[in-house]
Amino acid sequence: MIYFDNAASTRMDDRVLEAMLPYLKESFGNANGKYSLGYEARKAVNEARKTIASAISAEPDEIYFTSGGTEGNNTVLSFAKVIISSKTEHDSVLKVIENAKKNGTKAVLLKPDSFGMVTPKILKEKLEELDIKGDPSDFKKRALVSIMLVNNETGNIQNIKELAEVAHSYGCVFHTDAVQAAGHMRINVKELGVDALTVSGHKLYGPKGTGFMFIRRGVSLNPLIYGGGQERGMRSGTENVPGIVGLGKACELAAVENEINSRKEREIAEYFKKTLLETIPDTKINGDGKWVLNFSFAGINGTSLALRLDMEGICVSTGSACSSGLDERSHVLTALGLSNEQADSSIRISIGKYNTMEEAKFTCFHIKRLVEELRSLGR
Ligand SMILES: Cc1ncc(COP(=O)(O)O)c(C=O)c1O
Repeated sequence: MIYFDNAASTRMDDRVLEAMLPYLKESFGNANGKYSLGYEARKAVNEARKTIASAISAEPDEIYFTSGGTEGNNTVLSFAKVIISSKTEHDSVLKVIENAKKNGTKAVLLKPDSFGMVTPKILKEKLEELDIKGDPSDFKKRALVSIMLVNNETGNIQNIKELAEVAHSYGCVFHTDAVQAAGHMRINVKELGVDALTVSGHKLYGPKGTGFMFIRRGVSLNPLIYGGGQERGMRSGTENVPGIVGLGKACELAAVENEINSRKEREIAEYFKKTLLETIPDTKINGDGKWVLNFSFAGINGTSLALRLDMEGICVSTGSACSSGLDERSHVLTALGLSNEQADSSIRISIGKYNTMEEAKFTCFHIKRLVEELRSLGR
């Protein structure tokens, strides 16, 4: 099998599994237990928190464990009274906004430019128009700007540092969904200048159902989940100790191996772009991804192509596989100005650290062959 759907999920790194195993077997204690089994679990959770904080240049008390990207985004966005975000965000942001609007939240979705970029100028103009002036002393009264770092469909990398600066100059809190960035590029919250950031474990070779939020010291948000008061009251529920240990290991590996993995991914991506654009007529790349690539092949249906590639043992996706399997037209491609036909003719190829150039060559060969076949069949 050739797996080019790393934006949907990644294969867990064996070293992550190894780190987790003791906490699934002998060290199974509740991290709140007042005996050595509990202390062992607590120690492991603390270590993972420290590792993750150091990997992204944060402090350990700025890290809150969650069940993944969806929960992180929901928590950060749920209680804002004013939200400025973009039309190309993941549904775990857009649906929260949709719901919050019903409860009186004022929300604006920015339209990116035709390349899918939310430029600092676009944000500045909107903030100016909205006449937002937050009270810097009270985070809960400030508007929240939420723009993702890397888009899950086009792979576009937004200029978060400058966007955060613009947001701050208008007294807003800035959050970024970094789910598709972690594991593929270095994340440094100090350099990015963000107040909050969300990450998901299964996108960076860690376990599913794990993730964390970075919330900068001094920024106070409301919890989404109440109960036993774990995670300093921000996220109740018995700690998923093996998951947290696995997430910690995945973040440690990502930080250490980032450069080498990222170089390889980008080389493979360049090969895909060059080969598909040059050898298949009427092919278009949507956005400017460096490891998540989105192509439209005029005159064919993307789902038909993905299904045929699957028969060759190649996994790619159409649109966002992170939704519950509903085959809806991509809101991201539509926001970029693609027609329905163009959006429907697209596939997403997302590259990860286990992919090889040989796999890319094999995949390009079959894409070309199948696009020609589908075109000759008129679908
Ligand atoms: C950009 C982005 N944000 C959030 C999520 C949700 O993450 P999770 O699957 O961990 O809930 C995804 C995943 O599919 C994503 O691609």
